[in-house]
Amino acid sequence: MQFDIRRFDIYRKVPKDLTQPTLTGACISISSILFILYLFLSELSLFLTHEVISELTVEDPVRHTEKIPVFINITLPQLKCEYLGIDIQDDMGRHEVGFQDDTQKIEVNEGKGCRMESHFVINKVPGNFHVSTHSSRTQPDNPDMTHLIHKVRFGMDLQEGKEVKGSFNPLEDVDRSAGQALATHNYIVKIVPSVYEDKRGNVGYPYQYTYSYREVMQYGHGGRVVPAIWFRYELSPITVRYIEKNKPFYTFLTTVCAIVGGTFTVAGILDSCIFTAAEIFKKAELGKLS
Ligand SMILES: *[C@@H]1O[C@H](CO)[C@@H](O)[C@H](O)[C@H]1NC(C)=O
Repeated sequence: MQFDIRRFDIYRKVPKDLTQPTLTGACISISSILFILYLFLSELSLFLTHEVISELTVEDPVRHTEKIPVFINITLPQLKCEYLGIDIQDDMGRHEVGFQDDTQKIEVNEGKGCRMESHFVINKVPGNFHVSTHSSRTQPDNPDMTHLIHKVRFGMDLQEGKEVKGSFNPLEDVDRSAGQALATHNYIVKIVPSVYEDKRGNVGYPYQYTYSYREVMQYGHGGRVVPAIWFRYELSPITVRYIEKNKPFYTFLTTVCAIVGGTFTVAGILDSCIFTAAEIFKKAELGKLS
């Protein structure tokens, strides 16, 4: 006897004239195809977007000696540019008064106010920088430190469009221009180092931060203390690592197979149930049920 490989066929065909189309069958078929299409398109759009996973580690992502670049963009609507400067101090003994490099002062409010844009670097130790009139030779009568912050950023600028939930510029649009004129403003800033690895292997080092704020009227022995806007910072030992990942193609294939197969199976069960029920109903109507 000759061996017939067709015996391995698990998809045996029923001759066409032994099958019959039904209306419910057609309805179920069309619905399941629409359903498959919908699931397939949702799954495809999910596959085409990459995901960003994040993890926490206790490490320093860059060398300890590395410094953190800072960018600050702040408007003081009631203080002339000529009086303003930035002072930087830290626990490593740094004390710079009236930092001016890479700083732009733009007159606003018809010369009565000033916007400061400044880039500088800080060491990775606790410290502070403050915007004040300390470095000015002549002091204004009433240094009004009310201000409006546009940006305080640590580390690189994480480009727009990256789907990262984080706290990279929480001080944006903080408006203290309605505060007391002679008050000192304190921002206590906790800096969190972050690493962002994109799909192409580029690595960036942005820093996130949180802050708390306090406004105080300071008095010294000889009367009022010259007010300032203080940013006192501290680094967190925890690093947040963001990694962009593409979803693997095989999981997409698996999902598509599951969608197609699963839908047809469920639809088939549904169809045969309806068909059987209809047959029983017909028989019952004819009184042939025994
Ligand atoms: C600083 O903020 C002002 C106000 O939002 C903006 O017009 C200006 O372009 C900013 N400067 C930089 C360098 O981003």
